[in-house]
Amino acid sequence: MILVTGGAGFIGANFVLDWLSASSEAVLNVDKLTYAGNLGTLKSLRSNPKHIFARADVCDRTVMDALLSQHQPRAILHFAAESHVDRSIHGPAEFVQTNVVGTFTLLEAALAYWKALPVADQAAFRFLHVSTDEVFGSLSPDDAPFSETTPYAPNSPYSATKAASDHLVRAYLHTYGLPVVTTNCSNNYGPYQFPEKLIPLVIGNALSGKPLPVYGDGRNIRDWLYVGDHCAAIREVLAHGRLGETYNVGGWNEKTNLDVVHAVCDLLDRLKAKPAGSYRDQITYVADRPGHDRRYAIDARKLERELGWKPAETFETGIEKTVQWYLDNQEWVDEVASGEYRKWVEANYALRASTLSTQ
Ligand code: NAD
Ligand code: DAU
Repeated sequence: MILVTGGAGFIGANFVLDWLSASSEAVLNVDKLTYAGNLGTLKSLRSNPKHIFARADVCDRTVMDALLSQHQPRAILHFAAESHVDRSIHGPAEFVQTNVVGTFTLLEAALAYWKALPVADQAAFRFLHVSTDEVFGSLSPDDAPFSETTPYAPNSPYSATKAASDHLVRAYLHTYGLPVVTTNCSNNYGPYQFPEKLIPLVIGNALSGKPLPVYGDGRNIRDWLYVGDHCAAIREVLAHGRLGETYNVGGWNEKTNLDVVHAVCDLLDRLKAKPAGSYRDQITYVADRPGHDRRYAIDARKLERELGWKPAETFETGIEKTVQWYLDNQEWVDEVASGEYRKWVEANYALRASTLSTQ
């Protein structure tokens, strides 16, 4: 079996669902169930004996040791993290704890487990660390996209803690020989993304007639990848990635935030038209994110060259699927948008309200 951490979150849950639909190999899903983790996403696996769920914190060494020794996975795929940049600005401590201490603790547990494996199993074992393009910092308009050799330059507490975790993973290969591989991916979107992130937030606010908050001038650029394509890339890297290598994963879809918000509004205008006007009328410029990275772009040629991976979705096909999924799954959104989430929305957007202006 494989062990997945963070498998009740957005990407982890998509990965587990995709994995179990295509493979008979079981998944041990280890998740703390923070505000971002939702078992409702995994409802369809309730009676599937191949899905074993353990509510646990990756920072808990005793529990990680026990789970590894009990289930004997052939690989660990480490998705669990605090993942929202704005939250890392409001409260970085949790990010240091889960992203740095949690990754360290998991590496220590993995190393002890791996050392005790028979030699053949040691050679086959993998620790796959799921990371982000944000570790590379911010690009200028004419810079080449991030490659695997771009120097690290994280700018937010989130990206700094992810960078620290990447360095620890690398060190465990070089110092102790733990067979690791790391992926650094660009912005994901798709089903089951927590509504604090740009695309689901815009869909939800649009449908409830609220402002669509665009930070700063809306010209920041992200490179968008449909979550199913990210999951496919991770499967390829797990199966065929070279030991100790890092692989950049991206969609070749650079868009300004405004382009993204317009695309969502235009789809909603088509799929669920308002009685009058366009959803674009709800766009509202608000105070910028402190330290807001201007541009991310991924050069994913290594992954294509070595492992033959290419995204299957274009931004146009992926965003339409995504908007349609949210229209069809409002119940899921209502379920996850708990009291805690409502408090977060008040805290994050109240601070920005003073500079509100609509366009
Ligand atoms: P998410 O916030 O939606 O989910 C994170 C999951 O981790 C949740 O289920 C949460 O309960 C769990 N978790 C948090 N702390 C934990 C702990 N201490 N122990 C065990 N479980 C814990 O995040 P996501 O967007 O699915 O991102 C998953 C991974 O992919 C992260 O490592 C993130 O850095 C990386 N990543 C995300 C994106 C993106 O666009 N979302 C892009 C590139 C890389
Ligand atoms: O690049 C990969 C990263 O993408 C992942 O590592 C992170 O886990 C993931 O959260 C994401 O980070 P971003 O900060 O890019 O995603 P977010 O959806 O928060 O914001 C996308 C862009 O939209 C960013 O430039 C900020 C802007 N934004 C966001 C929100 C929530 C707005 O303009 N308004 C908003 O209300």
